Amino acid sequence: MKVAVALLLLQSEQTVAADVARGRAIAARWCNECHVVAPGQERGSDSVPTFSEIKKTEQLDEARLSAFLSAPQHSRMPDLSLTRFEIADLIAYIKAQQP
Ligand code: HEC
Repeated sequence: MKVAVALLLLQSEQTVAADVARGRAIAARWCNECHVVAPGQERGSDSVPTFSEIKKTEQLDEARLSAFLSAPQHSRMPDLSLTRFEIADLIAYIKAQQP
């Protein structure tokens, strides 16, 4: 019985939809050293696009963001080896940015 419940939880964990709150937590941990990831954030680098700017960049649709985050091609941005779940959460968070 316990095993069945655990399996069920595992399954729902893996199929769960992208989550904005989780994306925010990942951004606060891995991205905010360079990017302004939330309104009012004071630290961040001037030459790096804010998440709100990224959201407004039309060419950066979900597919492009996902491809970029799987393997960043910019020499100035590190490859953070994100899982596809983390990437989906981050994209959900970026898309939820207010202008
Ligand atoms: C060490 C600094 C650094 C960290 C940490 C970092 N970035 Fe970046 N990121 C950059 C820089 C610099 C650029 C702009 C590169 C350029 O335009 O040459 C960039 C650009 C981007 C872009 C735009 C790509 C494009 O094609 O215009 C996205 C999206 C992005 N970062 C997402 C993220 C996410 C999500 C995280 C956290 C998981 C993150 N970055 C962490 C430095 C960083």
